[in-house]
Amino acid sequence: MGVVPRTVQKLEKIWHLHPQIQKIYSAPYRWVVQREARMAEINREDRVLSLGCVAIPFSAIFLKEYSGAPVWALDIDAQALEKAGQLLRKNGIRGITLLQGNGAEIDLSQFTVILVALQVEPKKGVLKNFFAGAPEGARLIMRSPRHLFVPGYDPLPPTPQPCQRISQPLITFGGSVLYYNKK
Ligand SMILES: C[S@@+](CC[C@H](N)C(=O)[O-])C[C@H]1O[C@@H](n2cnc3c(N)ncnc32)[C@H](O)[C@@H]1O
Repeated sequence: MGVVPRTVQKLEKIWHLHPQIQKIYSAPYRWVVQREARMAEINREDRVLSLGCVAIPFSAIFLKEYSGAPVWALDIDAQALEKAGQLLRKNGIRGITLLQGNGAEIDLSQFTVILVALQVEPKKGVLKNFFAGAPEGARLIMRSPRHLFVPGYDPLPPTPQPCQRISQPLITFGGSVLYYNKK
């Protein structure tokens, strides 16, 4: 991981039990995730995976809130997951299951929607795993780093082309894209 993603990961591990910081830090993502949930037409029948959750799994929390679907939050880092578990328990948040593993390798056959954090790598490997292992009709959302941040984040691969794209107003990423698994 680049310097920015590593810094974000460290800060999340420090801030995970500070409610005020969490609220301010995650606030811009509320709208971002809402737009992503609309783009992917997520509903309560879906089985949703938030890939790369760290210690403050706000994408998973907002996905749960907007869809009512069962949500899994995955990270490769066991320490991050332990802290995410503390946060969920402290806030009495239910319906989010934490999983450890590599998104480029784990079995995706049970998930119908996957939201990939900007910091996740390798994006090419995650996409390959999605098209090979996710069920027909599954949707995958990725965030596209702004040009300035491409050296710090793994960029989206040139192929396959996403089927939809929306703009996002964040400093680090200007858009979210959607891939659809036709099989
Ligand atoms: C800094 S975060 C941001 C996520 C944010 N808290 C959220 O809810 O959207 C990205 C995390 O992705 C994890 N990660 C990166 N590549 C991964 C992969 N291939 N599989 C699983 N987790 C990965 C890193 O360990 C890091 O903790």
